[in-house]
Amino acid sequence: MKVAVIGGGTMGNGIAHVLAQYGHEVTLVEAEQARVDKALATIKGNLDRQAKKEIITAAQAEAALKRINGATSIDDCRGVELAVEAVFEDFAVKQDIFKRLDAVCPKGALLASNTSAISITKIAAVTKRPAQVIGMHFMNPVPLMKLVEVVTGQATAPETLQRVMQLARDLGKTPVAVQDYPGFISNRVLLPMINEAVFCLMEGIADRDAIDTVMKLGMNHPMGPLTLADFIGLDVCLDIMEVLHEGLGDDKYRPCPLLRRMVAAGHLGRKSGRGFYEYA
Ligand code: NAI
Repeated sequence: MKVAVIGGGTMGNGIAHVLAQYGHEVTLVEAEQARVDKALATIKGNLDRQAKKEIITAAQAEAALKRINGATSIDDCRGVELAVEAVFEDFAVKQDIFKRLDAVCPKGALLASNTSAISITKIAAVTKRPAQVIGMHFMNPVPLMKLVEVVTGQATAPETLQRVMQLARDLGKTPVAVQDYPGFISNRVLLPMINEAVFCLMEGIADRDAIDTVMKLGMNHPMGPLTLADFIGLDVCLDIMEVLHEGLGDDKYRPCPLLRRMVAAGHLGRKSGRGFYEYA
């Protein structure tokens, strides 16, 4: 089917990759040509790696890349059956994209957002087709991670949910239907755990390595919560805690002061070279 992906950053390039790998014709829209080129180069590198590991053949990698057309305007989304938005986590930016997608995409086309924490109901309400708006919350890295949280807003039609659940299955993913409440399931459960680990550190209950070791060896988590927080980015963790705190109105979601202090210091985790751990 003809699909569009808006935003070709960390998530958008992975979503475009998987859609193309499974035979869909993808229009990948970025803000400017240099970013289109960068996204396509990243996708090529990742497809080539899959071919080297014999997950797909070299011919399949080449064919997938050919199915992706770069674009710098949403006007190029005319004729798509589905658009998946993966731009910055900023409501004003997403609102503008959804208004334009609603104007350009055919009647009946589905509009999905990969947002981690913005309300699907609120995004849907800026369009004239709220029944066709839905969340498709992929996990990073998209080609490897099986889960897709499929988020239904207040007005999402049951048929929209069914079509997106089937599409996710056809992409080799395991979709899970969830309702549109702050943090959905993934971040509602994960982030308070990370936040609690930061409280444990702040209160001196144990040191960094001990906290991570308890969760790794005791709970069989592949990595400890502080290591994971560094991967996600401490600024992103703080933003999500704020969304939970504000949206659910319960003080059990208050962000840990140490998390705030680290973000204020610019210690954001892997991406800044320093978070709970240091990176070369
Ligand atoms: P990113 O910063 O890597 O990529 C965002 C891209 O959107 C950038 O390349 C930017 O140029 C592009 N963009 C911005 N405005 C645009 C516009 N008007 N038109 C076209 N492109 C535009 O961000 P990332 O991490 O890929 O996140 C995207 C979305 O996915 C966010 O809503 C985020 O919450 C969500 N998400 C992120 C996850 C992650 O682990 N990074 C996991 C799951 C969801």
